[in-house]
Amino acid sequence: MAITIRRATIDDLLCMQNANLNNLPENYLFKYYMYHILSWPEASFVATTTGDVSNPQDVFEDLAQEQNVEIKRDPTYIRPGEKLVGYVLAKMNDDPTQQNEPANGHITSLSVMRTYRRMGIAEKLMRQALFALREVYQAEYVSLHVRQSNRAALHLYRDTLTFEVLSVEKSYYQDGEDAYAMKKVLVLDELKPSNFQKGEIEDDLESDLLADILKEGVDQVTV
Ligand SMILES: CC(C)(COP(=O)(O)OP(=O)(O)OC[C@H]1O[C@@H](n2cnc3c(N)ncnc32)[C@H](O)[C@@H]1OP(=O)(O)O)[C@@H](O)C(=O)NCCC(=O)NCCS
Repeated sequence: MAITIRRATIDDLLCMQNANLNNLPENYLFKYYMYHILSWPEASFVATTTGDVSNPQDVFEDLAQEQNVEIKRDPTYIRPGEKLVGYVLAKMNDDPTQQNEPANGHITSLSVMRTYRRMGIAEKLMRQALFALREVYQAEYVSLHVRQSNRAALHLYRDTLTFEVLSVEKSYYQDGEDAYAMKKVLVLDELKPSNFQKGEIEDDLESDLLADILKEGVDQVTV
């Protein structure tokens, strides 16, 4: 089963919200997802599959279109044949009271659908988001909160991604549970996606890709 990790777009937001509602008690209004994507369009990522997708609803949708009746869409499908299996929603810190802080990012939400867990998907989503926050938005560090009881997420953040625990925030969550406030300093060279992939080609962050394309003989590039 092939999984694709790609940047999140507006088309993914309903599915991301659906996954969040399924996986976490911390939920957000749709406009908060929109705010993320419109303000920091390169910071959030989704994991999707087209491999094991056989949605019987496609058949019903064709029938419904013929009959001109509306049916409720399956909210796990971004479009026919593409299913969302995980997401990371990330942003830059835009708190006006912290303007003296160096640029820093924040992980608002992360989750992977139950049947796709323990396959390394969350780690890959997080590594892409951390790289983008550093490379695109020049974040010097990134922060997040995690429930004290969330063993899976704690392992991912602290042991796999080497976040440090800054403090315990008492009763941070609505149900009264404490949170660990965590932070990771972002060093571009350490975050290069090629460091974590099996390929032998290293990310080249120096050369200008557009210049290379032009050198190879494209007459004009319209942006
Ligand atoms: C936390 C969560 C995102 C992890 O997703 P995942 O795709 O299963 O994680 P990965 O497969 O990338 O695993 C990353 C690391 O965490 C470890 N891990 C994953 N689930 C674990 C569990 N239940 N218990 C202990 N360790 C776990 C993996 O073994 C791996 O460790 P390694 O690097 O030492 O091999 C997923 O369990 C989830 O969606 N949970 C519900 C939502 C949630 O809690 N979100 C985080 C809110 S802060």
